[in-house]
Amino acid sequence: MKKLSILFIALAMIATSCGDKKKEDVKKDVEQVKEEVVKETTTTDAASDKDTQIAMGKKLFTDKTCTTCHALDTKVIGPSLKDIVKIYGEKDGNIVKFLKGNADAIVDTDPGQVAIMKANLDSFVKEMSAEELQALSAYMRDAGK
Ligand code: HEC
Repeated sequence: MKKLSILFIALAMIATSCGDKKKEDVKKDVEQVKEEVVKETTTTDAASDKDTQIAMGKKLFTDKTCTTCHALDTKVIGPSLKDIVKIYGEKDGNIVKFLKGNADAIVDTDPGQVAIMKANLDSFVKEMSAEELQALSAYMRDAGK
């Protein structure tokens, strides 16, 4: 009977120590996988965030009729995206600020031309959210670079 209980205790110890080891291993594996997943999602998120923003801006640029007056590299009624981006780069301008009506025109300062664009800003652009304006700006800078 005594022998049997010793055997039982020994078995129990082996069983628990095995179990512990396994648990530790599993825990390590889980941590590793977790780290990899976190790494992957943060890097892909950063990239896809920008892509999503540009895609959203592109859609807005069409939906909000910007394309009626702005083409990629030819002047239509308004300056081309390439010209806008070039001048904003040179003069360190902020497209979002301009769209919000908080900065003067720097691309075409002819009052007649400015008035045409200002009519847009005063009507529907002012209804757009900060996120939408950021997206428009991101798209313009990407397309016109
Ligand atoms: C009816 C025609 C028309 C539409 C529609 C239009 N624009 Fe313009 N845009 C102009 C004209 C004309 C100018 C040149 C005057 C000027 O630079 O402000 C201009 C200039 C700009 C500039 C340069 C501003 C500067 O600093 O000189 C930006 C940026 C711009 N438009 C963005 C947009 C966006 C974004 C949309 C859509 C929400 C849009 N435009 C819709 C006619 C238009």
